[in-house]
Amino acid sequence: MRRTVHVITHPLVQHKLTLMRRKDTSTKSFRELVQELSALLAYEVTRDMPTHTIEIETPLETMQAQVIDGKKIVLASILRAGNGFLDGMLSVIPGARVGHVGLYRNPATLEPVEYYFKMPHDMAERDVIVLDPMLATGNSAAAAVARIKQCKPRSIVFVCLVCCPEGLKTFHDQHPDVPVFTPAIDRCLNEHGYILPGLGDAGDRIFGTK
Ligand code: URA
Repeated sequence: MRRTVHVITHPLVQHKLTLMRRKDTSTKSFRELVQELSALLAYEVTRDMPTHTIEIETPLETMQAQVIDGKKIVLASILRAGNGFLDGMLSVIPGARVGHVGLYRNPATLEPVEYYFKMPHDMAERDVIVLDPMLATGNSAAAAVARIKQCKPRSIVFVCLVCCPEGLKTFHDQHPDVPVFTPAIDRCLNEHGYILPGLGDAGDRIFGTK
């Protein structure tokens, strides 16, 4: 199966990501930037989304016009950093439903353990956009997507701000069918599982917890 990685090279996306990477960017600015960037990423991710035709009245005449069904989209946030994507994405897809996946790593077995999982019902008719700013080791993203697949959604894509070759490989080894949308494929992981050059701990920078 083909592994798809969409690298979003749009200048606005790249510019905002660069500002986010800078270590002296404040929490306030980081949060504003992640919101703006999320809206731009939503635009890219929904590019091929199916539309249907409805009849509307313009001030001059009747016409057939295209609409998407926003309610069919689920924004699935991987806690906690994935929540940083929600406001920006919802600003352009206001009808989207929101799901959450919470996982932690069991220190003894190193296996991901689920502590929270809530998705909308009727997933068979919904398209899921999984959100996690950093695709680092790829383990939690792969585990979250495996769990979401149990709900049998119509489609799944994964969106991040930054990824690395190791994370992409781990993720696509388990989910070759899930396209990844990212503005950046960085160099590598360090020994602590952080992406280099990266942008640091995305959750801490969004929520100001460090
Ligand atoms: N999680 C982060 O927030 N940053 C990284 O670089 C890796 C994982």
